[in-house]
Amino acid sequence: MDIIGGSDDASREIMKRTIIVIDDEEPVRKVLNTHLLKEGYDVIQSAGDNAVFDLLRNLYCDLIICDITMPEADGFRVLEFVRENLDTTPVIMLTGLTDLSVAVDIMKRGAFDYVIKPVKKDDLMAIVRRALVHRDLLARNKELELENREYQGFLEQRVRERTKELNAKAKELQKAYGLLKSTNMQFVNVLAETIEAKDAHTRGHCNRMRILCMELGSLAGLSADEMEVLEYASLLHDLGKIGIAEEILNKTGPLTEDEFRRMREHPEIGEKILQSVPSMAPIAKVISCHHENFDGSGYPKGLKGAEIPVASRIISVADLYDAMSSDRPYRKGLPQNVVLREMKRVAGSQLDPEVVAAFIENRVHLSVRNESATASGL
Ligand SMILES: [Fe+2]
Repeated sequence: MDIIGGSDDASREIMKRTIIVIDDEEPVRKVLNTHLLKEGYDVIQSAGDNAVFDLLRNLYCDLIICDITMPEADGFRVLEFVRENLDTTPVIMLTGLTDLSVAVDIMKRGAFDYVIKPVKKDDLMAIVRRALVHRDLLARNKELELENREYQGFLEQRVRERTKELNAKAKELQKAYGLLKSTNMQFVNVLAETIEAKDAHTRGHCNRMRILCMELGSLAGLSADEMEVLEYASLLHDLGKIGIAEEILNKTGPLTEDEFRRMREHPEIGEKILQSVPSMAPIAKVISCHHENFDGSGYPKGLKGAEIPVASRIISVADLYDAMSSDRPYRKGLPQNVVLREMKRVAGSQLDPEVVAAFIENRVHLSVRNESATASGL
């Protein structure tokens, strides 16, 4: 192997290109060397022995010009090696053969072009220049791909970091929301207990209402938001009783007409109290309708059927069940079969028949018994 870097300093400044010429015939190498040096290229020569593979592995070059038929390193082997290891380096094959099929084969195997021997200087230089432009484009393309991959990696990393941050924030918000919700519920429970404390007839009523209503709401397929409204409304449905005199609430005998009129105001009083809190508006609406009857005979507005919010219809069913089945100071709770029979009787008039059917078919009243047993440790 001869390494000849014989170009003058000025042309090296311009080109600074290194070309490896591989040919077992020394005269051919000399001719090519002369032509290429004159054009300002650095030239490395190889006689095409097996050492050429180490040379290709260890030395940088911009272009390879390689003979096809050589005793040791066959030109096709060299081409295959270059395509596998030096993906941007073009190879120009030298061939003494003029058979077109050989040329086609050379190109198919990844050669940039071929030159027929004896080599004409102008033809060779034209191909060399094109090959170097092609090499530069490939190299630039590879750089861009690399930059693109790096940028992609950078973006993916940023997205991963951002997602992590957002997930952490979402968790914090969820925690804060859970705390707020639990505080709200505790506050509503205190309100419910306040209502019960005022009305001696209804001890434990609000909590039983919550259990029955949650069961019925779930059977009715309510959404999570609707369930939340129902839960609050079931606890607060009698909030308006705060505005009713205790003598009326706790009276054991029949109410006078005026007392009855006052008593019937409690759904609207409750609605007004909650309306002062904007986020409670859907709950206020449900509360205002909890004494509306399915056939329009209820109060305060005489709404009927689907005009009454489904949560209010659920509360009506649970309210009637609990009022009849729980003990009062002046009477014992009625037996289950009597209560259920009465619910069936008023289904379609006072109560929504579908909610009543769901209540009876699914034995919803057992949920209150189970809850009481759990609470008392039985
Ligand atoms: Fe009520």
